[in-house]
Amino acid sequence: MIHKHDVVIVGSGLAGLRAALEASKVADVGVVTKLFPTRSHSGAAQGGIAASLANENPEDNWEFHMFDTVKGSDYLGDQDAIYQMVTQAPEVVIELEHMGVPFSRTKEGKIAQRKFGGHTLNHGEKPALRACYAADYTGHVILHTLYEQCVKHNVRFYSEFYASQLIVRDNAVRGLVAWDIRDGGLHTFHSRAVMFATGGYGRAFQITSNAHANTGDGLSLVVREGLPIQDMEFVQFHPTGFYPHGILVTEGARGEGGHLKNSLGKRFMEDYAPSLMELAPRDMVARAIQTEIDEGRGVGGKPCVHLDLSHLGKDLLKERLPQIFDLAMNFVGVDPSSEPIPIQPTAHYSMGGIPCNMHGQVTMDEQSTLVTGFYAAGECACMSVHGANRLGTNSLLDAVSNGRIAGKSIVKDIPNLEWSDLPEDYDGKAKKEVELYLKGNADGERVAAIRKDLQETMMVNCGVFRNEADLTKQIDIVKECEERFKKVTIDDRSEKFNSELTEAIELGHLLDFAGIIVKGAIHRTESRGGHYRKDHEKRDDVNFLKHTLAWKKDEEIKLTYEKPVVITDYQPMERKY
Ligand code: FUM
Repeated sequence: MIHKHDVVIVGSGLAGLRAALEASKVADVGVVTKLFPTRSHSGAAQGGIAASLANENPEDNWEFHMFDTVKGSDYLGDQDAIYQMVTQAPEVVIELEHMGVPFSRTKEGKIAQRKFGGHTLNHGEKPALRACYAADYTGHVILHTLYEQCVKHNVRFYSEFYASQLIVRDNAVRGLVAWDIRDGGLHTFHSRAVMFATGGYGRAFQITSNAHANTGDGLSLVVREGLPIQDMEFVQFHPTGFYPHGILVTEGARGEGGHLKNSLGKRFMEDYAPSLMELAPRDMVARAIQTEIDEGRGVGGKPCVHLDLSHLGKDLLKERLPQIFDLAMNFVGVDPSSEPIPIQPTAHYSMGGIPCNMHGQVTMDEQSTLVTGFYAAGECACMSVHGANRLGTNSLLDAVSNGRIAGKSIVKDIPNLEWSDLPEDYDGKAKKEVELYLKGNADGERVAAIRKDLQETMMVNCGVFRNEADLTKQIDIVKECEERFKKVTIDDRSEKFNSELTEAIELGHLLDFAGIIVKGAIHRTESRGGHYRKDHEKRDDVNFLKHTLAWKKDEEIKLTYEKPVVITDYQPMERKY
């Protein structure tokens, strides 16, 4: 079946919904989404959305926010895009408020703001209250509000459709092919513009705060069309995932005053970031926790430390962190008002992604040449507003503000984007892939075994700390997984709601870029932000103040380091907190 829309957006998290809302002002918009929109992973974001509203700290302003974001990015962030994001942040949040997002309130009735790691006043002097929040359900309430607004503005949703091929010819995108998960069968979406808002790739790792659906689907489809992806070696490990599952414990818990303690009961952050302590940027806190664990100061002999919230009192926990309270009770059997929570670093966010310029237009080389009619925003995109390390609450801001920007670019560009005929064999790759799984060999390996080996080894060899020997081992393991996957088999050969088929496609996507993450980590012989090499502990601005671009062709990965970082206001400095 062929559907026609001016604009097709893939993904219905905050970036996709905000773009759809904007584009729907002038165009007919279809949203293709693997999940029902309100189940998107943006709904799991807990602690807040950053904006220098100055409701709690009158002296706060966009310049402090920009400084923190650039420094937090370990100077790999593009400063023109960061400027755009932080200056628009207050307007973006007020707009959400006016759409109906039920933010928590100050006593005067303004939007309440809390502390988050790396956000400071006056260039690092003291922590800033900059994260606008709705208890610890911030992503959830923004997601629901934007979905309601999209429905009101007649955006057409194709829920439970799994994007399986981008249609691109002569450097112009013409549409998309997707698998109908519910009823089976391939559908074609013919359009003038396509936007990807397909989220991150945390599921490449064993311990992750990410939903099962976060398998980097958009990135894989881009790689399959011979286009590059950017800065993939930069994976963020959130310091506090519940031990042992990795489910997120919001940084807002430390923003409200939570303490990290090792087996000796010591607040060990005083040894790593004495001025900001638990509110240092995530990469630093995650490394501090991992070091405590690796050096034998994990609690109870397990690979975890404690997050102690008990001194905050039950009333505050119930009011500001109700979800964490319930998750702690239900998933680890701990009452956080009287006992500390066991936590560990958890793969949380993908700084790398589909390269795009500050207008959300996808680019295809070091000179940032545009792919006509193709846009990206949110976690799947690399604009790059987070550089080598994202500050907490800048992801919801990125998703909403850059979704809005990509939507505005579509509005501006659409009069010049002509309808082009679908090329011959436009859905060939998608058909071949589905046939391979539904009609392929019956005696190969199962998806789960290959996926488990990939995720476990990525965690060990390409995790918080990295070194050449482990990464080299991991390249071979990924290759082995790719070979095993060529003979993968599924038992369920039916077309309707075949979750085994979905999982096979997802694993194929993870394998498309797992090697790119690892190879990027091998070749970047420095430590910067979320990428930490034990054998190259210093940042190397001479050789690596550059974005990585990666292409994959005939199973070979090519990397280049010729795309410059945009530096406007802040020259790289040593990063101390
Ligand atoms: O810790 C958190 O609530 C996560 C927020 C974020 O990743 O921005």
